[in-house]
Amino acid sequence: MRGEAGSAPVWHRPVLLEEVLGLMVLRPGARLIDCTIGDAGHSVAFLTRAGPSARVWGLDRDAEGLARAHRRLKARNLDARCRLVHGGFGNLRDLAAAWNVSVCDNILLDLGFSSPQIDDPERGFAFAKTGPLDMRMDRSQELTAADIVNGWPEGQFRELLWTLGEEPHARRIAAAVAERRPFGTTGDLAAAVAAAVPHRPRRRLHPATRTFQALRIAVNDELGQLEAVLPQAVSLLAPGGRLLVLSFHSLEDGIVKRFLRTHGRRPARNKYARHGDVDMPTLSVLTKRAVRPGHRELSDNPRCRSARLRAAEKVVREDAGAEAAAQRRPAGNERTGTR
Ligand SMILES: C[S@@+](CC[C@H](N)C(=O)[O-])C[C@H]1O[C@@H](n2cnc3c(N)ncnc32)[C@H](O)[C@@H]1O
Repeated sequence: MRGEAGSAPVWHRPVLLEEVLGLMVLRPGARLIDCTIGDAGHSVAFLTRAGPSARVWGLDRDAEGLARAHRRLKARNLDARCRLVHGGFGNLRDLAAAWNVSVCDNILLDLGFSSPQIDDPERGFAFAKTGPLDMRMDRSQELTAADIVNGWPEGQFRELLWTLGEEPHARRIAAAVAERRPFGTTGDLAAAVAAAVPHRPRRRLHPATRTFQALRIAVNDELGQLEAVLPQAVSLLAPGGRLLVLSFHSLEDGIVKRFLRTHGRRPARNKYARHGDVDMPTLSVLTKRAVRPGHRELSDNPRCRSARLRAAEKVVREDAGAEAAAQRRPAGNERTGTR
């Protein structure tokens, strides 16, 4: 996307950039898997800050986004230090194996959509500028928003609005959509939703905001991808490595918070248990509360208003050395110490 004809491209603005860098491992040679490279804003800053031996492996499910990332990295002479691949982060382990990466110092998930995606009416994410009812981040997948809006039974659509949009007027909206469909554009759908809900003069959000959120999450299986990637990310981190997640709505943040709580908690010890009998936590949570953008960032970039950053470090287990030694020890000397 370009600003005006021939002018410099308008890039997505990386959210909570200084806070993200402050939570990363930035030593020479540090490695980052950027699971949502987008316009590479976070990756460019990481490569610049961590020095010439730092490396990035970047992925995105949007092939056009990936091409933009490559262009931006190349313009900064950083492309040789970054490998890019098209794919969903739900398959992170396989993608990392294809790169030959088995451990990493930082893994970043900057969830949701990028500015070029929402600003392009042809992608169908926005209701402000009308476009086709698409919403696919990966345009090679089959399911589109139009398939759901025009094809799903009313009850199933209502359920989607409840669960993924947390929409209090789900019943009215689903009934109105079922009566008026088929819909072809985001503008028509947004107008039908606005007409279906009670008029509130001081409403802060457009009445179709939650409907569009629910559709986007469903089309891209956003929550399924997030649930799938978190354990894979932890297993790819080196001891002392950092996992960072930027989320933009409460459903995503809830998944991240629960995951960090579960894996960052020291299990209650049985007083009769010997050391090593209970599972040790795999993560140490670095953000007691989610980090939110400050006033300055909010006024510079209002799109970041719902951002929440959480981070954790992979724990260096006290017993890891002993465990590794036990695994290396030949089987015969377990009881007697001799073979
Ligand atoms: C908020 S943008 C990232 C912006 C980036 N951090 C930057 O500074 O330019 C999110 C990106 O993640 C991608 N994305 C969303 N879900 C994904 C998934 N499951 N797998 C891979 N990429 C995904 C989107 O296509 C989008 O390009």
